[in-house]
Amino acid sequence: MSRNLLTLVLAAGKGTRFKSNKIKVLHKLLNKPMVQWVVDSIRDLNPDKIYIIVGYQKENVQQAIGSDGIEYVTQKEQLGTGHAVMAAYDELKPDDEKDLLVINGDLPLIQTKTLRLFHNYHRKQGNALTFMTADLEDPTGFGRLIQTPEGFLRIIEEKDATPAQRKLKEANVGIYLFRIKDMLETIRRLNNKNIKSEYYLTDMIEIMGRSQKKVGSFKTNNVEEIVGVNDRMELAKAIDVLRLRKIKELTFQGVTILDLSSVWIDHDVHIGSDTVIYPFVNIECGSKIGRNCILYSSTHIFQSEIGDDVRILPSTVIEESTIKKGAQIGPFTHLRPKTNIHSGARVGNFVEMKNTVFGRGSKAGHLSYLGDAQIGEKVNIGAGTITCNYDGIRKNKTIIDSEAFIGSGTELVAPVKIGKKSYIGAGSTVTKNVSPESLAVARSRQIEKAGWVKRKKRKKSSGNRD
Ligand code: UD1
Ligand code: MG
Repeated sequence: MSRNLLTLVLAAGKGTRFKSNKIKVLHKLLNKPMVQWVVDSIRDLNPDKIYIIVGYQKENVQQAIGSDGIEYVTQKEQLGTGHAVMAAYDELKPDDEKDLLVINGDLPLIQTKTLRLFHNYHRKQGNALTFMTADLEDPTGFGRLIQTPEGFLRIIEEKDATPAQRKLKEANVGIYLFRIKDMLETIRRLNNKNIKSEYYLTDMIEIMGRSQKKVGSFKTNNVEEIVGVNDRMELAKAIDVLRLRKIKELTFQGVTILDLSSVWIDHDVHIGSDTVIYPFVNIECGSKIGRNCILYSSTHIFQSEIGDDVRILPSTVIEESTIKKGAQIGPFTHLRPKTNIHSGARVGNFVEMKNTVFGRGSKAGHLSYLGDAQIGEKVNIGAGTITCNYDGIRKNKTIIDSEAFIGSGTELVAPVKIGKKSYIGAGSTVTKNVSPESLAVARSRQIEKAGWVKRKKRKKSSGNRD
């Protein structure tokens, strides 16, 4: 159905109401830039072309959105939405068979199915221009649909509207379908005689109507999708809608979410069925969680991959790491980037790891720091073990071979290697390699001075009285 559809996304405006150094359309919702949401929803319509109108910070927009199936057109000065479409004038051929969907880049909630209904309606009506409207409970900030005394449809912008017109509820959504030939014939008639001195795209409705072209509106019932994100409050509201959409999608795929209000899951996160998510869990940036996992409260997972049957106990932070099947992490564990926990391993209370491989079935239950370490299978790391990996210049490696036992309170001064099945006595400071199946104890011998306390007290009472 979309063979004859071109699309144009308006993304050149600064977005002054955002009060940001960054262009509005690059602000992210669930880790996806605002304009990318719009591009993705029109991409699913399978259009012949996607143009993005860029201007303010155009290099940043191009870099963030990329060039896959997209052509960029520059609007040198940002003189309004109508002016933005005019910037594409030379790109478009006056083809009678082709339609152009124009969409504001600040409509991240719009869904493909709504656009499809809109397109079907436009084709069925044989309109030269169809624009989308919605009845909004609070249409503040939107243009309102009115009729001129002669009966032509017209959008009046909020700033140009009278108090009576502002009370009207039917709002202009910011999505238009033009028959290209008719649009090209009329667009140069736009002027900027309005309060903002801008070329309003919305004026095309009246201009085309007066030019005997067939103009009609399409009212959508999917009001939830109609949020033009113009300020940070609207951004927050839009994020909340997308957050709940994502949660709904996951629950339909068999994920249990115990508290809808506190869970944050980015749009690009995958979670397997029968996994249970407790309150206050954040899963971000393309993370993948397997099936049948439990993620307890206040856990933060960033750009990580977690296998099936993994338990993450409360207040755990996992960044850019992988955890294999059946492992248990937490509570209060911090896995920093490039940590790889193998299956069945256990990492517990107040353990920090970084750039470390932790082998199958190994355990580090309490209060340890393991950095730049390679740890084999079934290794036991006693409480308070620390890899001294940094000598002030370089990061050095600690290797602990399988089935080694590291006694509590051990400092492993890297580079150092502990051989297979070796034991390290508690409280050791290990500075030399330990060969396999050996015991190493590296601490000063304990001495005891019997009766020392009594002698000390006696000395005090007989001598110095200050
Ligand atoms: C616009 C509509 C309004 C509608 C509302 C829906 C006009 C004149 N008004 O108002 O009727 O109810 O959207 O959300 O169109 N842009 C450019 N170049 C420019 C100016 C804007 O590319 O010179 C882009 C912006 O980046 C943005 C989009 O056009 O993505 C809409 O601009 P915005 O300033 O948000 O228009 P609204 O005031 O919301
Ligand atoms: Mg807007």
